[in-house]
Amino acid sequence: MKKARIAVLVSGGGTNLQALLDAQKTGTISHGEIVLVISSNPSAYALERAKHAGVDGKVVSRKEVGSQEAFEAGILALLQEYRIDLMVLAGFMSILSADFTKKWPERILNVHPSLIPSFCGQGFYGLRVHEAALQKGVKVTGATVHFVNEIPDGGRILLQKAVEILDGDTPEILQKRVMEQAEWILLPQATEMVCQKIVKESV
Ligand code: GAR
Repeated sequence: MKKARIAVLVSGGGTNLQALLDAQKTGTISHGEIVLVISSNPSAYALERAKHAGVDGKVVSRKEVGSQEAFEAGILALLQEYRIDLMVLAGFMSILSADFTKKWPERILNVHPSLIPSFCGQGFYGLRVHEAALQKGVKVTGATVHFVNEIPDGGRILLQKAVEILDGDTPEILQKRVMEQAEWILLPQATEMVCQKIVKESV
């Protein structure tokens, strides 16, 4: 059976990448294959995870190439070289321009650690999202997997899952609970959903 070719874009620890790699192993992802990991950060631990799984890892650093155009051209060249069908942003901390995202309509997925439209958009990433949720005093947060378009965290929502906030939570404790109870489950599920669609459309 033909599989959708997936590139996972990362910037840091890569626990969501690990969840995707594990899901591929266990069969939760059966219509897609992770063939490439692109990191915006040369020292991301996610690159180690890719290596360990036998997946090619490449670095395209905005800082090193000097401009957004060169950064995106570097990513596009890799997507072509590896004949990528679907991009999954898994803790990818760079913004992609409208020029870039419009070339890939409903072919870029992102996981965000809140229930969009809360605590999302410009400036809300990583631990900051959980800091903001705790500061606001909300009692429920969660994670969202959505398509990426020209609006930061604004594309069509595919999956969401709520996670409780408990007394005594720190941003770190909350981040871990949201990952364990939502992100690591939703991202592989959504990836498989989109891969099934891509495979179906290709026959
Ligand atoms: C995850 O919580 C992910 O949802 C978040 O960064 C973390 C990366 O962890 N992404 C964003 O905030 C994007 N706006 P990981 O590198 O261990 O997967």
